Amino acid sequence: MNKFTPAKPAGARGVDEITGSRRLRRMRKADWSRRLVQENRLTVDDLIWPIFVVEGKGVREPIAAMPGVFRLSIDLAVKEAERAAKLGIPALATFPNVDISLRDQTGSHILDPDNVINRATRAIKDAVPQIGIITDAALDPFTSHGHDGILRDIIAPSDMMDGRIGAIRDALDANGFQDVAIMSYATKFASAFYGPYREAVGTAGLLKGDKKTYYIDHANSDEAVREAEQDIAEGADMLMVKPGLPYLDIIRRLKDEFQMPTFAYQVSGEYSMIKAAGANGWIDGEKAMLESLLAFKRAGCDGILTYFAPEVAEMLKG
Ligand code: PBG
Repeated sequence: MNKFTPAKPAGARGVDEITGSRRLRRMRKADWSRRLVQENRLTVDDLIWPIFVVEGKGVREPIAAMPGVFRLSIDLAVKEAERAAKLGIPALATFPNVDISLRDQTGSHILDPDNVINRATRAIKDAVPQIGIITDAALDPFTSHGHDGILRDIIAPSDMMDGRIGAIRDALDANGFQDVAIMSYATKFASAFYGPYREAVGTAGLLKGDKKTYYIDHANSDEAVREAEQDIAEGADMLMVKPGLPYLDIIRRLKDEFQMPTFAYQVSGEYSMIKAAGANGWIDGEKAMLESLLAFKRAGCDGILTYFAPEVAEMLKG
């Protein structure tokens, strides 16, 4: 008994007696009342679509470990960008798979203004100026060892490198790009869920060892907050948590702590698990997709990088 427990109403019995007539189910009973009290909603405005780009023309290569995801040549990437814009998807994130002969110890090909990712960005922006493009600064698709940075002696600076955000901000500002925003991979965890992506960008066979010296230990949560704090101080405009679903607690902590625009990257392994189980009939893949995406909203995300973007955008339209 507490002050909220009413005196037992006359005529109450069974479950009402046990619950003191408190029934949260009343509002769940009908579709209209469920809709009325729904706290979070997924809309097309929440979606960022990561795509993979390769050389060639008319290329649409399936990625075995990611059913429904393809490596696209620039001409087809432009077509997909047009489709995404029509669906209302706000932005794309682009990742290249570059020829192995162009990869070296220092990832130098990333500096080539005419590499496939820079040409893709220009082509997409020319054809679909209204769509946002988020490019990645990590070197892993360009290095012969598949790591994100340059390996010097035993140091492995990289993406997730301390001071990286500040250095990028200063360089952008010094070159007249004050309006280019930075999405910090503030809290990127060393994770097994990146597996299929490495097939997509062709680093699976190259990568020796792991990325534990620069990504966050997945046992840690306070450290993630400190990483984010530093990136904000250095000028990050948005925070990203990666992977997504196993790290909803981190998303919530960052949102509560910093009130920054906060994004989750639902990574390749998360996508493939849902796809594979769905394809086998073990779970309802579409429902699991929607449930996982809404979970990000509930956890405090402003948006989600997800390979499901076009599929879910189609569903939300219908
Ligand atoms: C590395 C990078 C990774 C992903 C995108 N960029 C992880 C990695 O290779 O360690 C993973 C994305 C995904 O799994 O979908 N810079």
